[in-house]
Order: sequence, then C-alpha cells, then structure tokens
Amino acid sequence: MSLNQYIRPVTTERKENLTIGGCDLMELAKEYGTPLYVIDEATLRGICHDYKKAFAECKNIKMKYACKALCTSAVVRILDDEGFGFDAVSAGEIYTLHKSGADMSKVLFNGNNKSASEIELALNLGVGRFSVDNFYEAELLNKIAFEKNLKADILLRVTPGIECHTHEYIQTGQIDSKFGFDLSQMDEIITLIQKQYKNLDLHGLHAHIGSQIFELQSYSDEVEILVKEINRINKKFGLKLDEMNIGGGLGVRYTNSDNPPSTEELAEAVKKVVSSADDLTIYIEPGRSIISTSGVTLYTVGSSKQVPNGRKYAAVDGGMADNPRPSMYQAEYTAEVVNKPDDFKKEKVTIAGRFCESGDILINEIELPELEAGDILCVYNTGAYNYSMASNYNRVEKPAMVLVNNSHSDIIVYRETLDNLISHDNIPDRLRR
Ligand code: LLP
Repeated sequence: MSLNQYIRPVTTERKENLTIGGCDLMELAKEYGTPLYVIDEATLRGICHDYKKAFAECKNIKMKYACKALCTSAVVRILDDEGFGFDAVSAGEIYTLHKSGADMSKVLFNGNNKSASEIELALNLGVGRFSVDNFYEAELLNKIAFEKNLKADILLRVTPGIECHTHEYIQTGQIDSKFGFDLSQMDEIITLIQKQYKNLDLHGLHAHIGSQIFELQSYSDEVEILVKEINRINKKFGLKLDEMNIGGGLGVRYTNSDNPPSTEELAEAVKKVVSSADDLTIYIEPGRSIISTSGVTLYTVGSSKQVPNGRKYAAVDGGMADNPRPSMYQAEYTAEVVNKPDDFKKEKVTIAGRFCESGDILINEIELPELEAGDILCVYNTGAYNYSMASNYNRVEKPAMVLVNNSHSDIIVYRETLDNLISHDNIPDRLRR
C-alpha cells in the first residue's frame, strides 16, 4: 500500500489515548488548544518516498508539490528537503516558497488569471516555469519579460477534453473548462510565440484533469493525448518540445468506501504510455495525495442535542471555517475519539460545527463512543484543502498547526488572536470617537 491509501497517519497508535508521531493527542489539545491541525512528518516524508520510488525508473521526472493543498513555511521546507519542486498559483504562494528558501528554479507558476504584479514577482524571484493559460497571459508575460530583458520559460496549459468522475467543482480537464487552451487553438498560439512573442521560450504542454481521481484510465487517456499533441506540434512547427506536465489529482482515502490507486499504480499507468517517449521530461504536481493523510484536526466537543425522534448532534469548536470541504463538496470524513477506546459504548451521532449555518455539519451520522463535553475528536485526512481554504467566518480565529515527529511537537502556524482579526480594520477619521 502507498500512504495515500491510508485513512490515518502511519504513526497513529491507540495507547491510553490516541497518539500520532508519538505524541498524545490529549496532551497536544491541552498544550496548543483546539481546533488544532496536526501534521505527522513521518507520513508526509513517507508519501514523498512513495512517489519517488514509484517514478524512479522514469529518467526525467520532476515532482512539483501543488502548494494550494497546504502552503506553510515548514511544510515547504520538508518538501524542498525531499527534493520536490512546487506548483504555485499566486504571489502569496511564490513569496512563501521564496522566504522558506525553496529552490525557485523548480517552481512552476500556474493559474488562469495571473496579474502583472504576480508575473513580475515570479520573474524577479527566478521562477523556473510559467504554465501559460490563455492568449491574454501569453501577450502579458511576453511584454513583461521583454521589459526586463528576460526570456520566460513556459509550458502551455491545454484542456485535453477528459471528464473524470469527481465532484464537478474539482474537475478541470473537460472541454468546457475555464482553464487552458482548447487543442484547436494550439496552432494559433504557437504561431504567435514563434512569430511575435520572442521573450517566451516554449518547452512543452501542461494539463490537469481534476482532483480526487480514482480512475487510472483518465491519466492514461490524458498522457496519450499530450504525447500525441507534442509530437504533432514538433512535426508541424519544427520544434523540439520535450516537457509534459500531467498535473496532480491522485485521490486519497477519506473513508473506508474510498479506494484510490497507489502511487505505484499511477506511475505504471503513466509509464505504459510514455515508454516510447524516453526523451520527454515528465512533470507531476500532486497536492492532496502528498499532504492529506499526514494531517488531522483535533476538536473539543461542547454541546449536544438529541432531536426528539430525530438525530443526535454533538457540536465541536470548529467546522466550516477550518474545513469547508463538507459544506462545499459534500466531502466525507472519518473520526475517532482521542480519549475513549473503541470498545466504549457507541452511538450514532452527527458532528456539527460551531458556525452559524445549518449546513455546517462536519460528519453526518458516524458511529462513535458516546460523546460528552470535553471529549477530543480527531478528524482524519484533513491535511489538504482545510487550512488552505480556511476562512474567518463569524470572525473566528484560524487554528494553530503543529508538526509531530518522534514524540516531539513543534508549532508551525500560530493560532490567530482576536487582535489579529481586527489588525486590518480601519475606522475612518470621521467615525472616530
Ligand atoms: N495542478 C493543478 C493545475 C491544479 O489545478 C491542482 C488542483 C493540482 C495540480 C493539485 O491537485 P491535487 O493533487 O491536489 O488533486 N479544493 C478542492 C480541490 C481543488 C483542486 C484544484 N486544483 C478540494 O478540496 O477537494
């Protein structure tokens, strides 16, 4: 099994309480407060090794961690340490990478509407590749690179026309997508690059077909389309494009009913199609499958409610602001009670968030040891797209994040304070007292 197929971090153990990375989660909750994001370093490094091992036979493979899943300075350090490059999509991500000491030549700048100032920052900081998404961007990037007397190294983002079976909001490769050039527009953009955009250096093509993907066939189809298109372009335009970015998307196991393929199976599917194209450099940019399983969120249980003849609710001290995925995508999660063993008397309960919306339900009907106020709940697989999509809804402070390893914990993101929340507010003079 590769680690994206686990629900829990690899170091999870039930001792007196639940522990991860050798740290008692009850103690962590006490020391750092809740809600608390916990990242297990062994699981994170383990999945990096899984990826490297799976693709070891590919001579020219470039792994780029998709920062959008979780971008904090310590996480960047670990990924950089593991030899990964990065897929970044904003000035904020690029700046975090730069400040964390990441190798900027291994950074790929993605996005469908990069601003002039973001492009300038990326060029100034030596970002290695731009994935150019559309005609407007090609012209803008060429102009800014010209003004700086630089050449921007680019891939072209294409829409390969693949519908994979995932939530429609996280599908990206279908024909009618907001991302990338349609294949029918390739000749036009390449002619522009050859004839007019002298400050763009084209290396290859990029596609990303979606996220939380379980079907390897989607990848095989994608790779086949990309290889075919690269060959066609090279022939027609006398070019030597030799880079292919196949995007991210490998799924993870949130619940027992999820069955994502392993990193090895993904690598096999890719290798089968590209074995004939040995001279191609392949980029892969996974986000969720790298970071999700290493992360859990701890919550404290507060009020409960038994609806007469209805459901039992237990409310926790977080919810849709620290994990918007259940309310946005009907995402499902698995949880355990940190301080109660599995053989404790069980009940069916719905875990409600603390935010002011009926839709703020973290887990619908899960069987757990009977909950009471003060219990600590551990929700698994929250490493990806939780903190990175967190908000301050209801003016609630964003949680802290700790990294655990070898029975040691370190804070990697401080909990926001009430003063942080008002620190960007301004009262105009005429309203001041
Ligand atoms: N590359 C590109 C161009 C992408 O757009 C994405 C994700 C990735 C790589 C990484 O995909 P991953 O390996 O993480 O599946 N917020 C949603 C997921 C949105 C994914 C957006 N793009 C969620 O919480 O499910």
